Amino acid sequence: MNALITGGAGFVGSNLAAFLMSRRDPAAQIIVFDSLARHGASENLAWLRSLGDFEFIHGDIRNAFDVEQTIKRIAPDVIFHLAGQVAMTTSMQSPRRDFEINVLGSINVLEAVRQYTPQTAIIYASSNKVYGNLDHLDLVEAPTRWQPRTMQNGVDESTAIEFHTPYGCSKGAADQYMLDYARGFGLNTVVFRHSTIYGGRQFATYDQGWVGWFCRQAIESKAALSSETAPSRPPFTVSGDGKQVRDLLHVSDAVNAYVMAYENIATARGQAFNIGGGIDNSMSLLELLLHLEQRLAIKLNYTHLPWRQSDQKFFVADNTKAHNLIRWSPKTPKEQGIEDTITWESR
Ligand SMILES: NC(=O)c1ccc[n+]([C@@H]2O[C@H](COP(=O)([O-])OP(=O)(O)OC[C@H]3O[C@@H](n4cnc5c(N)ncnc54)[C@H](O)[C@@H]3O)[C@@H](O)[C@H]2O)c1
Repeated sequence: MNALITGGAGFVGSNLAAFLMSRRDPAAQIIVFDSLARHGASENLAWLRSLGDFEFIHGDIRNAFDVEQTIKRIAPDVIFHLAGQVAMTTSMQSPRRDFEINVLGSINVLEAVRQYTPQTAIIYASSNKVYGNLDHLDLVEAPTRWQPRTMQNGVDESTAIEFHTPYGCSKGAADQYMLDYARGFGLNTVVFRHSTIYGGRQFATYDQGWVGWFCRQAIESKAALSSETAPSRPPFTVSGDGKQVRDLLHVSDAVNAYVMAYENIATARGQAFNIGGGIDNSMSLLELLLHLEQRLAIKLNYTHLPWRQSDQKFFVADNTKAHNLIRWSPKTPKEQGIEDTITWESR
C-alpha cells in the first residue's frame, strides 16, 4: 500500500502512520504530509522518525500546488485525509482560516485526485457536528447525563445534516464534497463522522480533546495536592452542565476503521459512516470526572461556564452501518482507554 496521510503528524495521523509502519510490509510506502501547525505535531514527527522509515512532506493543504505535486508524484493508492482545523472555538475566532484549511484544503485533495490519480481512495475525517444541535432528540435529564428516551444504539447516518458553527460548516462542506465527488466523478471517497477520539499522542487543549484535557487536569490536581511546595491550583472549568454525553473512540479503533475502509473500498466508496465508541463506551463529562476522582482518590475542584455554542447534549454513534459494510466495530472498552490516556497525560 502506497499511503499518503495528510495531517500525519497529528494525533490520529501519527497513530495511523505508526500502525502502517508496524506492519513492516516492504512494498508499503508511507508519506506524511503536514504543516506542523498543531502544538505537538513536531514531537509526533520525531516519535515517528524513531519508529522507522517514511517520507515527510512539510506542506500546507491550502496550497493547491503543494498538494497537486505531491499527489501527482506519489500516485497514492489511498489518501487518509486528516489535516484540518480541528476546534469549534478556533473556527469562531477565524472562520476564514477554518474555511481555507477544511474546505479549500479538501477541494485541493479532491481536485488533484480527480485530475491525476482517479483510482486513489480518499478516506476523510468528518465530524458529528454535521448533524447540528440534534435538538429533536427526546432527552431526559438523569443525575449525571442527558439520555434519549427511546434511541437504543445512538445516532445513525439517516439523521438530517444541519451545519452549525463555522467548524460545522467547513467539516460538513468537505464531507458533502467528498460524497459528491464519488457520485459525480466516480472517485473512491469515504467519509467518517467522528465525535470524541482519545488516547496517546493527542496534545489535548482546552478547546479540543476533552478526555485528555480532563485527565491532565485531574493528574495536575493530584500532583498539587501531594506537593507541599506547589501553589494551590485554581479550579478548572466545565462548559455547560457537564451532562453532555459522547461515545469515546480509542485511537487504535479509529486507526483500524481507516484501514478497514480502504480494505473494503468497493463497498465503502461513496458512503458516510458514523464511527465512534458506541453506546457501551458513552460517557458524560461529569461521569469522566467522577471516574477520575475514584481512580486517583481525589476531589476535583471545578466551576461551570455557559454552554459552548452548538454543544450537543447527546451524541453517540450508531456503528451498525460500519459493522455491516466494512466489518468494523470498536474493541477498546472506555475504562482501558482512559487508563491509556492517564499514562500518556502523565508523561
Ligand atoms: N480527535 C477527535 O476527537 C476528532 C473528532 C472529530 C473529527 N476529527 C477530525 O480528524 C482529523 C484528525 O484529527 P486529530 O485529532 O488527529 O487532529 P490534530 O490537530 O492532532 O491533527 C491534524 C494535523 O493537521 C495538521 N494541519 C493543520 N493545518 C494544516 C494545513 N493547513 N496543512 C497541512 N497540515 C495541517 C496539523 O499540524 C496536525 O498535525 C481532523 O480533520 C479532525 O477534524 C477528530
